[in-house]
Amino acid sequence: MAVTHLDSLDKIVSLSKARGIIFQSSDIYGGLGAVYDYGPLGVELKRNLQQAWWDEMTRRHDNIVGVDAAIFMHPKVWEASGHVEGFNDPMIDDKQSKKRYRADMLIEQQIEKLKSDGKQKQADELQEKLDTAGSRKGLCEDLQELILENEIRAPDSGAFDWTPVRQFNLMFKTQFGAASSADDDDAVYLRPETAQGIFVNYKNVLDTSRQKIPFGIAQIGKAFRNEVVARQFVFRMREFEQMEMQYFVEPGTDEKHYEEWLKKRLEWFERIGIRNEYLRAEDHPEDKLAHYARAAADIQYKFPIGWQEVEGVHNRTDFDLSRHQEYSGKKMEYFDQAKGERYVPYVVETSIGLDRCLLMVLCDAYREEEVEGETRTVLKMHPKLAPIQAGIFPLIKKPELKELARKIESDLQEEYSVFYDESGSIGKRYRRLDEAGTPFCITVDFDGLEDQTVTIRYRDDMKQDRVSVDRLDEVIREGIRSWKPETG
Ligand code: GAP
Repeated sequence: MAVTHLDSLDKIVSLSKARGIIFQSSDIYGGLGAVYDYGPLGVELKRNLQQAWWDEMTRRHDNIVGVDAAIFMHPKVWEASGHVEGFNDPMIDDKQSKKRYRADMLIEQQIEKLKSDGKQKQADELQEKLDTAGSRKGLCEDLQELILENEIRAPDSGAFDWTPVRQFNLMFKTQFGAASSADDDDAVYLRPETAQGIFVNYKNVLDTSRQKIPFGIAQIGKAFRNEVVARQFVFRMREFEQMEMQYFVEPGTDEKHYEEWLKKRLEWFERIGIRNEYLRAEDHPEDKLAHYARAAADIQYKFPIGWQEVEGVHNRTDFDLSRHQEYSGKKMEYFDQAKGERYVPYVVETSIGLDRCLLMVLCDAYREEEVEGETRTVLKMHPKLAPIQAGIFPLIKKPELKELARKIESDLQEEYSVFYDESGSIGKRYRRLDEAGTPFCITVDFDGLEDQTVTIRYRDDMKQDRVSVDRLDEVIREGIRSWKPETG
């Protein structure tokens, strides 16, 4: 069978819109840039992913507990965390089209162009200068110089009419309470990462949950970044969701825990059915580390737009807790009773974007297959993530077939997400649910009324089996348990 893998993100965008997975936000008003809504199938997939992550963190580790912190936080939090001062992207505006770009990304695109034009030496030289930008006159000045001396033009208008490069803070400011204005010194921000909600609750959790170091705190929640470049669908959004876990450890053991968590997190990707050969871990070079990190690695997936980060694993040292201790005046020390020692714990963080993870699942699952002269689009995702796990069809709309089909639906819906469908030919019903990633379809026919059997059809290989109705639960359970992704 001829199989086509995903070659462009556009196919996921179209399928998402057509099948109710993801919509542009406020679509009827022309949309809002880099903000998206999840439709009926998308929200189920998202919930299943959240659940898979939550179970992994909190059920499989009895020393990890959860919190759900508020999005609004005290303004001092973002001073302590370094975000007010340092959470910036260098941006530049095209004076003609008034469009804004990330200065470093314009240079990266130029490097790619030089490479594809066969000018490898020039590409390498420019890469070297980009890597050391900031070390000559300052970051903005160095980037400006590279854009001008390489005559990089605006991608949309083709113009060469730039403003100076400026730093642009990515946090959204807002008003808090009737008396304040967003320009106040005490402006309240929408959180740009969920992590700080964990750091400020570290003492509360320690004092109430009887955890001892090492222990972790997990959280799932919204984060907001006013991204300068917000393209590529849900890959880079202005409102998105993070699933983060901060693991508090004794200083000196941080490197060991960092290595362990990187390994564990890679294994999780395989457990949710992502093809191994599409995954890799990439260390951040020392000069590219975030202000808080001693070591960091990205877990990357090979998207149609290239290898890109889905999750970061970071050794944040005692940076955050020490800064909160300094800014709040509250002690963040841990007292190790066995050793009689006090210290501010180090933190190993795992941080994954839920929306980006969902996009990865869609990309990894997408196939186009030639079947009997037609193209079938199918999402071969792990059955435990599938928005609809079983489709239930009466062969035709006869009351006795409908009755048995409805009974099967009500038996299975206790355990699985199921969908009853009686409209259109069986072939059409299969195709609709292939596109939704439904791993099992059950058809009730007249023979089945006699002997209480049904046909179960499997999404991945389209094979069909005859199964007695009272074994359906067992067959589906085993199908979920033993599922493996098709490689290649
Ligand atoms: N607390 C650490 C932190 O926030 P990060 O590398 O900035 O680290 C972690 O973000 C993850 O959040 C990324 O790996 C990515 O999956 C996701 N993420 C970050 N910015 C995003 C955006 N604008 N849109 C969608 N996901 C984003």
